[in-house]
Amino acid sequence: MNDSMTPRPPFPGYDPGQDNPVLETLLSHRSIRLYKDVPVSEEALDLILEAAQRAPTGSNMQSYSIIVVDDSDRRETLCGLCADQRFIAECGVFLVFCADMSRLIEVCERQGYRYRADHLNTILVAHGDAVIACQNAAVAAESMGFGTCMAGVVRRRPQAISDLLELPRHVFATVGLAIGVAGEDPGLKPRLPRRTVVSRNRYDTRHLEEDLVAYDRTMCRTGIYHGRMEPIAEVDPDLEETFTDETYGWFEHTARRLAGANQEEKRGLGQFLVGKGFSRE
Ligand SMILES: Cc1cc2nc3c(=O)[nH]c(=O)nc-3n(C[C@H](O)[C@H](O)[C@H](O)COP(=O)(O)O)c2cc1C
Repeated sequence: MNDSMTPRPPFPGYDPGQDNPVLETLLSHRSIRLYKDVPVSEEALDLILEAAQRAPTGSNMQSYSIIVVDDSDRRETLCGLCADQRFIAECGVFLVFCADMSRLIEVCERQGYRYRADHLNTILVAHGDAVIACQNAAVAAESMGFGTCMAGVVRRRPQAISDLLELPRHVFATVGLAIGVAGEDPGLKPRLPRRTVVSRNRYDTRHLEEDLVAYDRTMCRTGIYHGRMEPIAEVDPDLEETFTDETYGWFEHTARRLAGANQEEKRGLGQFLVGKGFSRE
């Protein structure tokens, strides 16, 4: 066995969390939405992109592309298309990860075969590849001391964003990643209890109700939602606000997000993808 095949932790006796900078980076993640006006150097960006490309990818097809958006005018336009989430314009650099089947279809054609992977599974694989590469980039950036924030909002105006970034057929933006020097520390956001999301050997909801109630209270107490209530009118214009900062927690916030009128505009994505040459079947 040569050096590169030497087994690495975890192995019996290894104490994860001890002198493990990778775990330290992962366990201290928090999304950063306020950045100092400091660029990300080309050297740092190079390493971040290298880490992104090192990510595992379905069948080694590498069915994603990354657009580095560093032009300030383009960033401002992109920000406008992304619900004016300011961190997109203000971070050091913004990366757009795209699901990309275009060059793979060309590979198929250059070999003289008919492309038959026009089905839903391909959308999931390409989207998955892009998101996994994005997470690798985020971890790399955070390990270097940068703040990051992913941005699913790049799917909000898919056609306009496609036009802006000149994305060809069979390519669509799946997730963005803001990277830069943090100008805030929002702290760790509490997560659902472990047993809510992890079970052994079978799906287990035995503790679901009590755990969700406890989590709702925990999130309420963080004060995260103070001044950030989703407007009740977005759910139903006839409803009146009955929640206060003391009662509005994860339940209400999450439910309002899922039941808000703006969910309707997201329905267009399927049709957009069909127009881009993908199939939903
Ligand atoms: C796929 C994905 C898309 C996201 N899109 C956005 C976004 O568009 N805007 C935003 O402010 N945060 C976005 N986030 C960040 C999440 O809101 C954040 O990860 C979550 O609230 C947990 O907070 P934390 O990352 O600080 O632990 C996104 C995260 C993921 C994983």
